[in-house]
Amino acid sequence: MKNIDSKNHVTGKSVYVDDIPVQTGTLHGAVFGSPKAHGKIINLNLSEAEKLEGIEGIFTFKDIPGRNQIGGIIEDEPLFAEHEVHFLGQPVAFVVAENETIARKALKLIKIEIEEWEVITDPREAQKKGHLLIPPRTFKMGNVADEWAKCDFIFEGKVESGGQEHLYIETQGSYAYPMDNGSIKIHSSTQGATLVQKMAARILGVPMHRVEVDVARLGGGFGGKEDQATPYACMAALASYILQKPVKLSLHRLDDMQMTGKRHPYSSDFKIGLSKDYKIVAFQAKMYQNGGAANDLSPAITERTLFHSTNAYYIPNTEVIVYSCKTNLPPNTAYRGFGAPQGMFVIESAIAKAACELNVSKRMIQEKNFIKENDLFQYGQIAENVNINNCYQTADQTYHIDQIEKEIEEFNSKNTNSKKGMAVMPICFGISFTKTPMNQARALVHIYQDGSLGISTGAVEMGQAVNTKMIQVAAKVFSIKTERIKIESTNTTRVANTSPTAASSGADLNGNALRIACENLLERLKQTASKMLLCNVSEVSIENEIVLKNGKKTDILWEQLIETAFLDRIALTENGHYATPVIHFDKTKETGHPFAYHVYGTAVVTVTLDCIRGTYEFDDVKIVHDFGNSMNSIIDNGQVEGALMQGIGWVTMEELAFAKDGKLLSSSLTTYKVPDIYSAPKNVEITALKTEGPELALLRSKAVGEPPFMYGIGAYFALIKAIKAFNSNYKIDFDAPLTPEKVLMRLYQK
Ligand code: MTE
Ligand code: HPA
Ligand code: MOS
Repeated sequence: MKNIDSKNHVTGKSVYVDDIPVQTGTLHGAVFGSPKAHGKIINLNLSEAEKLEGIEGIFTFKDIPGRNQIGGIIEDEPLFAEHEVHFLGQPVAFVVAENETIARKALKLIKIEIEEWEVITDPREAQKKGHLLIPPRTFKMGNVADEWAKCDFIFEGKVESGGQEHLYIETQGSYAYPMDNGSIKIHSSTQGATLVQKMAARILGVPMHRVEVDVARLGGGFGGKEDQATPYACMAALASYILQKPVKLSLHRLDDMQMTGKRHPYSSDFKIGLSKDYKIVAFQAKMYQNGGAANDLSPAITERTLFHSTNAYYIPNTEVIVYSCKTNLPPNTAYRGFGAPQGMFVIESAIAKAACELNVSKRMIQEKNFIKENDLFQYGQIAENVNINNCYQTADQTYHIDQIEKEIEEFNSKNTNSKKGMAVMPICFGISFTKTPMNQARALVHIYQDGSLGISTGAVEMGQAVNTKMIQVAAKVFSIKTERIKIESTNTTRVANTSPTAASSGADLNGNALRIACENLLERLKQTASKMLLCNVSEVSIENEIVLKNGKKTDILWEQLIETAFLDRIALTENGHYATPVIHFDKTKETGHPFAYHVYGTAVVTVTLDCIRGTYEFDDVKIVHDFGNSMNSIIDNGQVEGALMQGIGWVTMEELAFAKDGKLLSSSLTTYKVPDIYSAPKNVEITALKTEGPELALLRSKAVGEPPFMYGIGAYFALIKAIKAFNSNYKIDFDAPLTPEKVLMRLYQK
């Protein structure tokens, strides 16, 4: 099935928040953010701004009828700064005017006096001063301290990985308007409709049932709207509630880039010990996560870094500690991979360091240490249905890695100013929210009298095509045409208490809830059919919209069946609830079985480096990916390609630059470079590993949204190989993104 949205997307017909036709009298908002990254607010003067014609109101923390608090996991983030500011761009006031031009003009008339405090942007410095968001967390297995003495080789090193701007095409935005009886409706570009509902209710001081949140689709989220759509929805809701008028807010790109949190930069130290046959015996790491000025999702991201700190390897002795450091940057947040890429980059760097020092191939060490069936992950889960070696071997057989290496060697021996490099990047990614209670979902299915269906789930469409997958599920259960099924917007009055669409589990969780609802309806319909056919229910089935009796076609068609059921007063509406079975995790012991299953894969990345300029082109990315039994290979391949590109961007060109005073210097697309078609690998091949797929995946089709992001990490290691081929003096280092400028410096390092 094709993505139901593709036609409307390319013809510009799809409606995003900023496209919603507005009601007459709609007001427009703009956010006044702190001009300083850290300090005490001495004075805030709104009087000039308030005098501007067309201004309808300026709101600060003083206007909040409920609680000025939007912290999700930990309550440490006010909607509006009260007496202190902790990052540049932190919302202080919300201006509402007749139109956006006036609102933005007023921003310039607001005067704020701030007593400046020390600005810290470096996580190691923050940790040294004791500025932590939460106490550090450690995952360990075995005993590293005892094992170092037994290792034949030990290497240590430092790893830096940068942040990353989400650059969703649709910026943060919302549209709120008053409804009857003190209620409010919010259209929000959010991955978490219920989170917006809960926080808006908290801000307004009303019960959640007074707040309705509706999400049609997002122009991309990538994690950036899991938590951080909330403040912008709350601001529109607050102004709308107080003024009793519709209020709309849509951030300008530059404001969005300056004000919102991004992927967490990490700075880490590692120590790795190997035996003489290249088995990794022990691995230890200290990771300093740059959390920004408030927790946001950092505690959960810390956790996922720990879960994935050994990637696809079994290491009997490990000890990894993550410090979530409080700095004066916008609170960093979810971004595709959710801390896992940062963790995996460290272990891959450690292996690369060992390989380089020992003068052996990195992939030989990788292959020797792949996790195997029944091995223990360092968090106590037993590895089951492990496919990492399958993926790697399939990649080797399909793409002939030896041959690729040989060709690269030949190329490098013949060319002086151009060098190639290759890297193998295995991935292992756990599927489920790491917080067990979040792994639940609901769906609502209506069958209308004419045989058409309206389905609602808690999943948010953000380009990943979850809506298409939902239609596929309903069509499959009933065996009816997909044209009969309409997917409704995500709305908190139809589906309540949703988890954000995140952790790659949107389709699994909501699709299974939907499947359950449809299966229950189908049972009822079969009863109706059995009455019509005067037979047992067990003899009835539906295939291609025709009712079958004992496998033989009858003359009862879908429409007739529905009409009969309706006249017979059978309930044609059903609610489905799904909670992932089996999973659990005990934080006090840091062990359990947190993931429903793991996704595996292997990428082989090759690059050609221009050694005069430091520029590079990726020739091939050849992937074997474990989709399970993919329910939609066009969509799933698209997810792999998109994630891969974002991953390559993260480790090669996307470079955030913050000034010492906390100002984002790379705050526009002239200074922040994201991958474009020219930087895409010239050839991307994706081979699906042949497997049945796990029972806990939706229709045995594995979650696919985030795992392939980590294939991009291979780009870093391919690049350093190419640099090394040109400059044998180059001491390999781990400092992503490896931009062309940095490559050039390393090419000529003495
Ligand atoms: N694909 C597109 N086109 N746009 C997005 O915003 N978000 C990614 C991934 N793929 C995203 C995307 C992230 S971060 C996640 S967690 C998953 O989609 C969420 O959707 P799913 O759970 O339905 O896979
Ligand atoms: N992944 C993504 N988002 C989340 C998670 C997770 O594991 N936990 C809480 N929010
Ligand atoms: Mo995805 S980072 O879990 O929204």
